[in-house]
Amino acid sequence: MTRAFTNPLRDPRDKRLPRIAGPCGLVIFGVTGDLSRKKLMPAIYDLANRGLLPPGFALVGFARRDWADEDFMQVVHDAVKAHARTPFREAVWERLAEGIRFVQGTFDDDNAFDNLAAVVERLDNERGTGGNHAFYLSIPPSAFPVVCKQLARAGLSQPDNGRWRRVVIEKPFGHDLKSAKELNEIVNDVFPEESVFRIDHYLGKETVQNILALRFANQLFEPIWNANYVDHVQITMAEDIGLGGRAGYYDGIGAARDVIQNHLLQLLALTAMEEPVSFHPRSLRIEKLKVLEATKPVGPLNETTARGQYTGGWQGGQKVPGLLEEEGFATDSTTETYAAITLGVDTRRWAGVPFYLRTGKRLGRRVTEIAVVFKRAPHLPFDDTSTEELGQNALVIRVQPDEGITLRFGSKVPGTTMEVRDVSMDFAYGHAFTESSPEAYERLLLDVLLGEPSLFPNSNEVERSWEILDPVIEYWHKHGKPEPYPAGTWGPESADEMLARTGRHWRRP
Ligand code: BG6
Repeated sequence: MTRAFTNPLRDPRDKRLPRIAGPCGLVIFGVTGDLSRKKLMPAIYDLANRGLLPPGFALVGFARRDWADEDFMQVVHDAVKAHARTPFREAVWERLAEGIRFVQGTFDDDNAFDNLAAVVERLDNERGTGGNHAFYLSIPPSAFPVVCKQLARAGLSQPDNGRWRRVVIEKPFGHDLKSAKELNEIVNDVFPEESVFRIDHYLGKETVQNILALRFANQLFEPIWNANYVDHVQITMAEDIGLGGRAGYYDGIGAARDVIQNHLLQLLALTAMEEPVSFHPRSLRIEKLKVLEATKPVGPLNETTARGQYTGGWQGGQKVPGLLEEEGFATDSTTETYAAITLGVDTRRWAGVPFYLRTGKRLGRRVTEIAVVFKRAPHLPFDDTSTEELGQNALVIRVQPDEGITLRFGSKVPGTTMEVRDVSMDFAYGHAFTESSPEAYERLLLDVLLGEPSLFPNSNEVERSWEILDPVIEYWHKHGKPEPYPAGTWGPESADEMLARTGRHWRRP
């Protein structure tokens, strides 16, 4: 059968064509925060530099500061110069700067929101933003309700006549199932679910999206991607940084809520889900939700989980303080900076395969990876001494840094005896592709402006993720404190014991 020829330059469905956002603007609440300066503003510039924003794009900042448009423009300029991924080009900057506005006000100030509505309307006329606006809430969740209500009151939340209005919210999406539900109700009261974009920046990472390509574009891996061949899966997100300067957000929250509930459970979902019918957002979400529905903590929790808190130590040749000495943390804080849990996925594909998730601050190295560790061969026709150094086959998806994929398998050591030892085969992004990967926020911001929701967890996924984690956190609160571990190590001893009990051990990336 011959396929009808379609000219890719004319076919809007051709996904190889750059996707350029139509007429629109972005309003950011919380423009004085770190996220805004380090990630959002640079990402907007990078998109403009790559020609992916509409010519009349508008960026509005909303904050308490007594700034004129020019002051805000300078802030954006400095942030772009300091943090953008792509080179600074005067012409691109000038075009972007023409669409920059600032609205001063507090969240409870009706006048400020009326003023915002007027600014947005003027932009529609002056810049041709067409009534299409996204509102990015880079603010504490406690301020979501008031801002949502204000947007509704000022007539900014409802789409009409084919125009769109979208809201972008940053985690934390609550601190447990109950608060997540309340938050979803508040947001959904004002914005319909299809207009809500919840950011989990891990989903914006190239290496994370590549999990789906690796699994579903190849014949090689999927036949062995199941309990018949896989012994266990380790998902690690290790950071070397400490929590200095983040007490306000982190104390009382801890590692499990900060990154397991969102980033690591999303990585699990992509690793364990069934093949979606298509890459249509709805099909993807169905499969992700299905696998999260089947995911549960494996007990007993005193044996299958571990948590820790870093104490002072040495890192990169520098002496660093423990959490309890970091500014702003209660001196008797029981907030965990390390968390490890065991999850099971109750499906035919994964029955009996433990998924070990761990994360921590001030660990030996910054590394995020997913290691699929395979069962040993059922029979080894070698002398025992020939295979002493042979481990288990593993496929390691290196999310960051050093992005790529490693396959570990046994190979004969050159020589006159049959000695077998582990070797690795590597794919590295830096070697295989010439272009550098976009930053996660570039991809996600563009998707918001395009109205493409695939990479955004919906309310069901968020609520289900809390349902998985809540019993573990509750158990921890009732039972003791996190175990201290020195900065620069790989976490508390109880985490090693947790795996040793089943005859396994953590990888040392
Ligand atoms: C954030 C967490 O979501 O992710 C931080 O709140 C963490 O605690 C950060 O440091 C890590 O992001 P990345 O992209 O550097 O791995």
